[in-house]
Amino acid sequence: MKLCGREFLVDDKTAEEFAEYMKKFSDLYISLSKIVKKHTVTSDPRILDLGTGPGLLSVEILRQIPDATVIGVDPLKKMLALAKENVYQSGEYIFEPVLGISEKIPLKDRTIDTIVSRFSLPYWKQPHESFLEMHRVLKPHGRIIFEALNRDFPKWKLFGIKIGMLFNSAGRDVTRYHVDAYQLAHTQEEVEMFFKKSGFDILESEGKKNEWKFIIVAEKK
Ligand SMILES: C[S@@+](CC[C@H](N)C(=O)[O-])C[C@H]1O[C@@H](n2cnc3c(N)ncnc32)[C@H](O)[C@@H]1O
Repeated sequence: MKLCGREFLVDDKTAEEFAEYMKKFSDLYISLSKIVKKHTVTSDPRILDLGTGPGLLSVEILRQIPDATVIGVDPLKKMLALAKENVYQSGEYIFEPVLGISEKIPLKDRTIDTIVSRFSLPYWKQPHESFLEMHRVLKPHGRIIFEALNRDFPKWKLFGIKIGMLFNSAGRDVTRYHVDAYQLAHTQEEVEMFFKKSGFDILESEGKKNEWKFIIVAEKK
């Protein structure tokens, strides 16, 4: 894994453990999926879940918007296999797993109604290029719902999270995967700047300086 040495992709075992651990937090995925629904106004929308991981957010989006097609992009085959399994176990939905990276999204220009991305940004080697790519694949006035770990989250509170995860049976690798990501995370101001420099208007920017995460909603100009 070697997160801070910038080797970001986890092995299959950690991916499986991450998926199992995160299933305990469906409320986090449900609340984000409701925001995605609020900002998706088209019928039969095509929604990109960038850095979909084991697809737990995609599942909740499909429950909220059953006529949507969700395209889950991730560089890890194992994550995509888990995502496919999790979506198909939850209902008859349209889910397209696509192997790829944010820096070169393997989708055509202006084909996506809404993009959602949750906690994937720390692993993007070229964030600015990735924001330009999101701009390229979105239809005009398409929106992005972006949830990110907060670089400004105080270190002593992060220590509390680490202990909590270990007590909650996250296991050492999953705990490290989450905690180390903060060292690569961005501040809310930095993410706002990525949006502004890539041709987006910011509609909402929610979060406080010392909260563990924040959400930004932006629209393609
Ligand atoms: C912490 S997981 C979050 C997964 C999912 N979004 C969730 O919230 O459950 C980060 C995901 O981003 C993926 N990832 C890493 N580098 C990426 C990149 N350059 N482009 C897209 N996804 C990437 C990882 O493989 C992993 O599945």
